[in-house]
Amino acid sequence: MSSGSRPPLAAPELDPAVIRRDFPALQQPVHGRPLVYLDNAATTQKPSAVIDPVARYYREENANVHRGVHALSDRATESYEQARQTVARFLNARDPREIVFVRGTTEAINLVACSYGRSRIGPADEVVVSAMEHHSNIVPWQAVCEERGARLRVIPISDAGEIDLDGCAHLVSDRTRIVSIAHVSNALGAINPIADIVRLARCAGCAVLVDGAQAAAHMPVDLQELGCDFYACSGHKMFGPTGIGVLYGRLPLLESMPPYQHGGDMIASVRFEGTEYQLPPHRFEAGTPHIAGAIGLAAAVEYVSSLGLDRIAEHERALAAYATEALARVPGVRIVGRPAMRAGIVSFVIDGVHPHDIGTVLDREGVAIRAGHHCCQPLMDRLGLPATARASFACYNTAADVDALTSALRTAREVFG
Ligand SMILES: Cc1ncc(COP(=O)(O)O)c(C=O)c1O
Repeated sequence: MSSGSRPPLAAPELDPAVIRRDFPALQQPVHGRPLVYLDNAATTQKPSAVIDPVARYYREENANVHRGVHALSDRATESYEQARQTVARFLNARDPREIVFVRGTTEAINLVACSYGRSRIGPADEVVVSAMEHHSNIVPWQAVCEERGARLRVIPISDAGEIDLDGCAHLVSDRTRIVSIAHVSNALGAINPIADIVRLARCAGCAVLVDGAQAAAHMPVDLQELGCDFYACSGHKMFGPTGIGVLYGRLPLLESMPPYQHGGDMIASVRFEGTEYQLPPHRFEAGTPHIAGAIGLAAAVEYVSSLGLDRIAEHERALAAYATEALARVPGVRIVGRPAMRAGIVSFVIDGVHPHDIGTVLDREGVAIRAGHHCCQPLMDRLGLPATARASFACYNTAADVDALTSALRTAREVFG
């Protein structure tokens, strides 16, 4: 079964086999085999510690927030606002008012692009992203740049899949209004040097947005230490529910930004002569929010905090290192990207076999991976590939999961000759 000697993967307290039992979806067989779930960068599975409070909310508390004069509404409001405080503590924000609940990373970036971007970006200005960004961190900026007559600049990356910091230093200038960059690349697993990029941006006097979709809940994220202005993440990639996510914004910036959407809950008073908006974060949460989602997300961050973010990061890093070594020994397999700082994401291709076909054969073996362009078409163009196969790890994955992946890949190789 094993494709080499296994390194010690987990610190004593983190036992993925035990953690796995917390996740009902992982207990089922798929195509008659135990499920090996390696598509965590797309979405993570949910522990009972998240599923139960969400169900309890609907059973016992369900009511609308911020507007009720009855007991259930008070309880729902308290749970929702407590969730904000829990998330603020988790990310080490200075103030819970810096946490805006949104649908996910995509909406968080759109909010900043439409509100901050439209009000600050003019015709001679520039927005800087990198060559490894997810479409969610390209297209909203492209749209704003087009609308404002501004220019989108792209930080180059090396063949290993690392940000070219010198290239970044050349690009970021007094014309730059914002640098928007992934904390961790969803396709290559590279952990980007955010502190260095924030330093460059500070010298140029521009803002920094960090797309934390692949980092939050997989490694410690300390917003005060990172020093960025905005941080975006998605609950469903953090063991929480779908449809909930977070935009962190430094309070003075949020206070200076116009609303993104308009309607109920985000107003202080409405007259036909004019409307006065709420202060942040409520200014940016128009309409009924995803109350159960916020409660589930708070439960999710408490769950991962109880496991220890340092231990989770080390476990996933060790799994990725084991996987790159094991995959490279499968004939015909080529690892795509070799960043020195890698999170638990590994992309690969097999000569002569389309990644979708790899994914289909692996699925028959009970191994769930992702195949495609991973919403990173410009990155695929840079790499000269139409697509890759991608294995992505979480705290419940084991070395045996990697062994199942390599064994299934050998089968795929036989199937496709
Ligand atoms: C790096 C990165 N950014 C943004 C997104 C978009 O996240 P969501 O679809 O949850 O909004 C993803 C999703 O895969 C991602 O990996």
